Amino acid sequence: MNILGIETSCDETSAAVVSDGRLILSNVVASSLKDHQKYGGVIPEIASRRQLEYINIVVGKALDGSRLNYSDIDAVAVTRSPGLIGSLLVGVSFANALSFALGKPLIPVNHIQAHIYANYLVGHGYDASRDRSACLPLPAVGLVVSGGHSSLFYIPDFRTFRLIGETRDDAVGEAYDKVARILDLGYPGGPVIDKLAHTVREPKLRFACAPLAGTSDFSFSGVKTAVLYYSRANSDKPDYSVAEVAAAFQTSVVNAITEKSIEVCKRRKCHSLLIGGGVAANSALRSQLQSRAAKEGIVVSFPDLALCMDNAAMIAGLAFHHYSHR
Ligand code: KG4
Ligand code: ZN
Repeated sequence: MNILGIETSCDETSAAVVSDGRLILSNVVASSLKDHQKYGGVIPEIASRRQLEYINIVVGKALDGSRLNYSDIDAVAVTRSPGLIGSLLVGVSFANALSFALGKPLIPVNHIQAHIYANYLVGHGYDASRDRSACLPLPAVGLVVSGGHSSLFYIPDFRTFRLIGETRDDAVGEAYDKVARILDLGYPGGPVIDKLAHTVREPKLRFACAPLAGTSDFSFSGVKTAVLYYSRANSDKPDYSVAEVAAAFQTSVVNAITEKSIEVCKRRKCHSLLIGGGVAANSALRSQLQSRAAKEGIVVSFPDLALCMDNAAMIAGLAFHHYSHR
């Protein structure tokens, strides 16, 4: 079964064709990121206008790339929520029209759940003997860490994502972006802080991240404010180092995410931990979660870097499981 997916929840316009919920035949992503950079964050009005400009071209390219025709498409999937309303509207309207014209079902998909599902996608020429997703049994714990969300889910099957914890304030990616703004590192902040933090072996500075003990929730606004106050008070001192601050911030949030995720896996007796979202590209989070999970006998999975970011393959992939249970 070939599903054409469309994703337009934020500043990426993406379309993809995925076969049987697993194999990516094409995955095209256009981004208006550059148009937002000078503002230090995504401007919804600009994002939705770009979505309108890009959508037709992106969907056409995705179909061409899959080497299929519209007649080979069995269903159209689209991100329904969450996201910026103007951006979402473009994708949903386009998908509605396409599904009507093709006479094929329209499958609405939740963006957050799809980020987790990205762990099960494979590309052409994948090596079945190294197929990680075969070793990711359900029930699993899912962790989404992105610009808009930091949430933990209990997943007994691909149609059931039970929310068990989330951030009470900033999302972790949002905290990365705000800290980057405080440190004057540009937007988006995550990749720059990730790189810079690597230049510091062991930060001497410490920023506390609220543990919210006894809950499965996160909080990242306190650590961001701690960085702000520290920088305001110290940025003119000779030993002030932006890299040191970036590394201390990263250590604090990565520890908090790692410890809470492992704790939830143990409590829920889950042996798979599936990570998704833009912050899943973070190298410190990847290595720390891998080594911590290995000690607990938990298999942790991150999607390939390109699939951590917003993309339509994850939408078309998860839609397969909704389709087959309609
Ligand atoms: O999932 P995503 O592409 O969009 C949302 O749905 O939010 O995530 C974007 C977020 C941004 O906040 C960006 O700073 C963060 O992911 N990000 C990173 C890294 N790469 C992207 N954060 C930390 N380390 C990275 N390497
Ligand atoms: Zn996302």
